[in-house]
Amino acid sequence: MVFKLGFLLLLGCIGCVLLFFAFVERDLQPQIPKTNLIYPQMAYKMMGKSSGDTRIIIEPSCNATFLIWIITSYAGDPSARSALRRAYTDEELQTLGIERVFLLGMLNDDAKNRTHVSQEALLDESRRFSDILQGDFLDTYRNLTLKHLMGLRWATNNCKCVKYIMKMDDDIVVNIYGILEKLHSGIIEKDSLAGYSLKNMVPVREPANKWYVSKMEYADNIYPDFVSGWLYVTSSQVANQLINYAESSHKYFWIDDVFVTGILRKLLNIKIQDINKIYTTDYRYLECCIKGKISLLKCEFLIGPNGGDAELQVRFKEFAKFCHANCFIRAENNLVGKTCVVAYKEPHLHKGAFQINSIKIL
Ligand SMILES: *[C@@H]1O[C@H](CO)[C@@H](O)[C@H](O)[C@H]1NC(C)=O
Ligand SMILES: *[C@@H]1O[C@H](CO)[C@@H](O)[C@H](O)[C@H]1NC(C)=O
Ligand SMILES: *[C@@H]1O[C@H](CO)[C@@H](O)[C@H](O)[C@H]1NC(C)=O
Repeated sequence: MVFKLGFLLLLGCIGCVLLFFAFVERDLQPQIPKTNLIYPQMAYKMMGKSSGDTRIIIEPSCNATFLIWIITSYAGDPSARSALRRAYTDEELQTLGIERVFLLGMLNDDAKNRTHVSQEALLDESRRFSDILQGDFLDTYRNLTLKHLMGLRWATNNCKCVKYIMKMDDDIVVNIYGILEKLHSGIIEKDSLAGYSLKNMVPVREPANKWYVSKMEYADNIYPDFVSGWLYVTSSQVANQLINYAESSHKYFWIDDVFVTGILRKLLNIKIQDINKIYTTDYRYLECCIKGKISLLKCEFLIGPNGGDAELQVRFKEFAKFCHANCFIRAENNLVGKTCVVAYKEPHLHKGAFQINSIKIL
C-alpha cells in the first residue's frame, strides 16, 4: 500500500516536471538555429526563394465582400485562433462583410511532438471552421515572410470584390467596430499602407538575440520606414503590387513587416499612412479601456498586444461591441492614455528591430 502510494506520488512528480518542460519549450517556439554559422548559408539558400514557390496545402474559399482579414498564426498554438473565433464569430463577421483567414505553415515531427498538434488536427480545424490557409513551408520565424506573402497572394487572387485587406498577428487585440468606423468614414486611404509607422529602426546585430540579422541578410544599418506587422490595412491593388514585385525580383528578407511594408513598399513608392494614435503598445491600457465600460466611455485605442493572454481578445471585444453602440467619446483630458496608471514598461512594438531617435546635429 505504502509502496503503491509512493509510486503514484513519483509518477505525479514526473508528470509535473514533464509538463513544466513542455511549457518552457513552448515559449521557445518556433526554434531558430543557435549558431550563427548557419545564417550565411541559409541566407544564400533563401536568395532564390520567392513566395511564388509556396504550395498551398489547405485553402479556404473567399466570400468576403468588404474586408478580408488575414492573420499570421503559429500552427502549433491554436489558443489565439480559438479566442479570436469566440470573440468574433463567423456569423457576426459575415454580416459585416468580413472573412477571417489564419495563415499557417507546416510543423516538422519535432514540433508536432512538442505541441501535440498533428496535421490531422489542423485538417480537422479547417473542416470545422473553413478559415485555415496553410503553405508547404516550415512554420518558423525565419519563414514569416513566406507566410505573409502567401496571405497577400491568396487574398488578391481569391477575394475579388473586397475593398480592403487587413493583415494582423494572432497575439494582437482589435476593436473591429472601431476599425470599420474608420474605414467607412474614409479616414484610411486605400492606396497606402495604413498602420503603426516605424521610422529609423535598426537591425539587431547581437548574434545571441533571436532576432539577430547578419550583414549578409541585410547590409544597411537602418531599415526603410515600415508599418508594424501587428496590424495594417491596405487595398488589393497595393497588395498585388507588393506581391508581384516580391515574386519577380526574387528578393527575400525574413523579417516580414520590414520586408513587405518597408523594403518592397519603398521600392514601389507606396505611401505609409500613420494611424499610430489608435494603437497602444501596452496591454494594460486595454484593461483600462475595458474598465471604462461602467462609466459608458469609449476608448481611443483600437489595437494593442494581448500581453500573453489570448482571452483578453474576448473581453476587449465584449467591451468594444457594447461601447460601440452605447458609450461616449472621451474628453481630451480623460483619455485612457492620460488617466490609466501603469508602471513604465519598455514598449515592445517591434520584435526585429530597435528604434533609434534621430539626433539633430547643430
Ligand atoms: C463561402 O461560400 C461557400 C459557397 O457559397 C460556402 O460553402 C462556404 O461555407 C462559405 N465560407 C464561409 C467562410 O463563409
Ligand atoms: C515523435 O514521436 C513519435 C511517436 O511518439 C516518435 O516515433 C518520433 O521519433 C518522434 N519524433 C521526434 C522528431 O521527436
Ligand atoms: C522554411 O521552409 C522551408 C520549406 O519547408 C524549409 O526547407 C526551411 O528550412 C524553412 N526555413 C527556416 C529558416 O525555417
